[in-house]
Amino acid sequence: MVHISPSILAADFANLAADVARVEAGGADWLHLDVMDGAFVPNISFGAPVIAALRPHSKLFFDVHLMICDPGRYLKDFLKAGADLITVHAESADNIPECLKQIREAGCRAGLAISPDTPTESILPLLPLCDLVLVMTVYPGFGGQSFMENMMPKVALLRREIDRLGLDIDLEVDGGVAPKTAEICAQNGANVLVAGSAIFKAEDAAKVIQDMKEIANRYF
Ligand code: DX5
Ligand code: ZN
Repeated sequence: MVHISPSILAADFANLAADVARVEAGGADWLHLDVMDGAFVPNISFGAPVIAALRPHSKLFFDVHLMICDPGRYLKDFLKAGADLITVHAESADNIPECLKQIREAGCRAGLAISPDTPTESILPLLPLCDLVLVMTVYPGFGGQSFMENMMPKVALLRREIDRLGLDIDLEVDGGVAPKTAEICAQNGANVLVAGSAIFKAEDAAKVIQDMKEIANRYF
């Protein structure tokens, strides 16, 4: 199933609940929440208190993307804040399998992300512990960057492995995704499309969401 996950990194932080309501009304079913600590990535965004504050204002599926060092230390905070899915980066800690297990044991879905320089092969043994795999199509840290088409072979390889093993894993792309880049993502097997600027900065967010959904649905 295809999901469009607008990233609030590009939303109006002074009117966050209203801006989220706008994309919810526009047909989004997931909401992407980018947590950055200024250490794992060279930028600081927001943490668990902002997610907890937003939780009662939205019925969307909360897709929390942790771009932080040592995520295991903070999982409890994000679980308590109301995350439906927590994605940790393969590069962020030694004990990633333990983090994934802890997320699942708490009744949440567990995601694993890879940055552009991380080889796909390195995470294949961890697939059985994942409910979602995220392939970054920019270097994590900032919204509004250009889509890296050369990440598509990673998406295709993961899709092949997921299907070959018969696993129920969503495959997500994040960074520079917009209606014009949605097709190649879906064609290569991504069924969850994150988009920050393309949706929140658009005049008609609903149209962008519908267009992306329609394009991706041709492949699923
Ligand atoms: C980048 C973040 C992305 C980002 C996407 O580090 O993980 O989720 O907000 O923003 P756009 O869609 O503007 O590239
Ligand atoms: Zn993200």
